[in-house]
Amino acid sequence: MFGKQNRVVGLDIGSSEVKALEMQRVGGDGYAITGFASSRIHTPEETRLAVKEVFRSGGFRTRRVVTAVSGRSVIVRYVNMPQMPQEQLRSAVRYEADKYIPFEVEEVILDTQILERDTGRGEGQQPEMKVLLVAVKKSLIEEHVALLRECGLQPAAIDVDAFALGNAFELHTICSNREREFDDKVVALIDIGANKTNINILRGKTSYFTREVYLAGNDFTEAIARRLGIDEAEAEALKIDPRDRVGEVEECILPTLDDLGNEIQLSFDYFENQFEKEVEEVYISGGSAKLPGLARTFEGSFDKPIVFWDPLENLPMRTERIDQKSVLARAGQMAVVVGLASRIRGRL
Ligand SMILES: Nc1ncnc2c1ncn2[C@@H]1O[C@H](COP(=O)(O)OP(=O)(O)OP(=O)(O)O)[C@@H](O)[C@H]1O
Ligand SMILES: [Mg+2]
Repeated sequence: MFGKQNRVVGLDIGSSEVKALEMQRVGGDGYAITGFASSRIHTPEETRLAVKEVFRSGGFRTRRVVTAVSGRSVIVRYVNMPQMPQEQLRSAVRYEADKYIPFEVEEVILDTQILERDTGRGEGQQPEMKVLLVAVKKSLIEEHVALLRECGLQPAAIDVDAFALGNAFELHTICSNREREFDDKVVALIDIGANKTNINILRGKTSYFTREVYLAGNDFTEAIARRLGIDEAEAEALKIDPRDRVGEVEECILPTLDDLGNEIQLSFDYFENQFEKEVEEVYISGGSAKLPGLARTFEGSFDKPIVFWDPLENLPMRTERIDQKSVLARAGQMAVVVGLASRIRGRL
């Protein structure tokens, strides 16, 4: 049985691309990447075909997948609650669900996790704890599972993009032997994709704030198309490879970049006010991290060190089935898929 369960495929169904990465447990604590495939999506209708395509071309040796949901049907809340055992927590949250989530409790699947057992005393002088609450609309999960089953896949776990990003970062600190350094450090992870930007603020291994901002790669492409009066396919190509027109591209996207920087700054402000702790470093990933001018704009807006990190750095890779060069060239885009596959490290 162990032989069967020692691999999983992280399946990141993004809005522009499906990425699948197989991870294998090796020995007790070890793991290695044993496969990778991706397939572009041009319209949402192509998603199912793209998922099938990555499993056709990836040569994976398992059909067990860890995927993620995201979007407006996914609600993440960080709440203070009176201290109670984990077993009681779920029913307590269900009972008060309307306080925290904008949907009927019958409509959602709820998950809870105690983040800090003792956060002091609340207004009623009761000892409190900090709880992470995730509510996902049942209809979204059902649709998602139906898609996976249609593609002949077995869902092993369904995650949330922002937490997958956090898991990838945790793995990164472990692989780089830098876990200690991040024990108490506050870092912001920012993943800038095609449709959305995910923000996850961590202190040590714990997430204290997540948010999705619907401003990302597609908006930059649109800005270029609009400003230069060209179609989107042309604008996309120019954005990705601007060559000697880099100045022109930067000028087109600067207002959108400023908007994104402001949205991220608002999240930092919220976190810093709430927790009286500063975000110390900003870690950027996602396909749009390579955008010309992004580093300069963000450095100016945040006044914090910015790191373009590589989620594949120091991760053992079995290269016989992987086109390593093309994967490494796009390493910055792999954070979510690595985080999903990294769930092989825990119990699945
Ligand atoms: N070299 C580059 N320069 C600028 N943008 C790029 C570059 N390469 C890719 N992109 C952009 O990155 C985006 C794709 O990134 P990613 O794979 O992280 O998105 P996704 O996961 O499909 O989307 P989402 O998470 O928003 O659903 C696209 O908008 C693409 O235009
Ligand atoms: Mg993505």
